[in-house]
Amino acid sequence: MKKLNGEALKLIDEVVEAHKSEPGPVIVMLHEVQDKLGYIPFEAMEKIGNAAGVSAAEVFGVVNFYAQFTTEPKGKHVVNVCLGTACYVKGAQSLIDEAIALTGAEVNRTSADGLFSLDATRCLGACGLAPVCVIDGRVVGACTKKKIAEEINAIRSAEATQETLPA
Ligand code: FES
Repeated sequence: MKKLNGEALKLIDEVVEAHKSEPGPVIVMLHEVQDKLGYIPFEAMEKIGNAAGVSAAEVFGVVNFYAQFTTEPKGKHVVNVCLGTACYVKGAQSLIDEAIALTGAEVNRTSADGLFSLDATRCLGACGLAPVCVIDGRVVGACTKKKIAEEINAIRSAEATQETLPA
């Protein structure tokens, strides 16, 4: 597990300090840490648990229950594939498989290079466009393996170009 830097630990302490006397502080603190750090590190669960008088394991249970909380930093780009019924019957699994192969990220995880997070989601409410992917917040309807590959490859190329530009 990667150690948190001092700045992140200070931020967690400030969040805990600001909310520890409020009723039901766990959710409030988790939201704020998620907003500010982009994820909930284990150290935050410990500190929040200590302040609220519950164990880190109980806080972890809360984090696991709510889909908006994540326990690892998100990648720079987020690829969502809907695995709701309408999308699933139209081949969403093959889109997930393609995305895993191209991003190097497992489902609901971030790739080792930190470039991509791959999320499988439940119905996005756009079943008429099934199968649906959302790439960096942009909906790609009637998604195919070819389309998702083009999207991911375009992101990779753009990132590679940026890296080679002079600073
Ligand atoms: S099942 Fe995918 S948008 Fe509804």
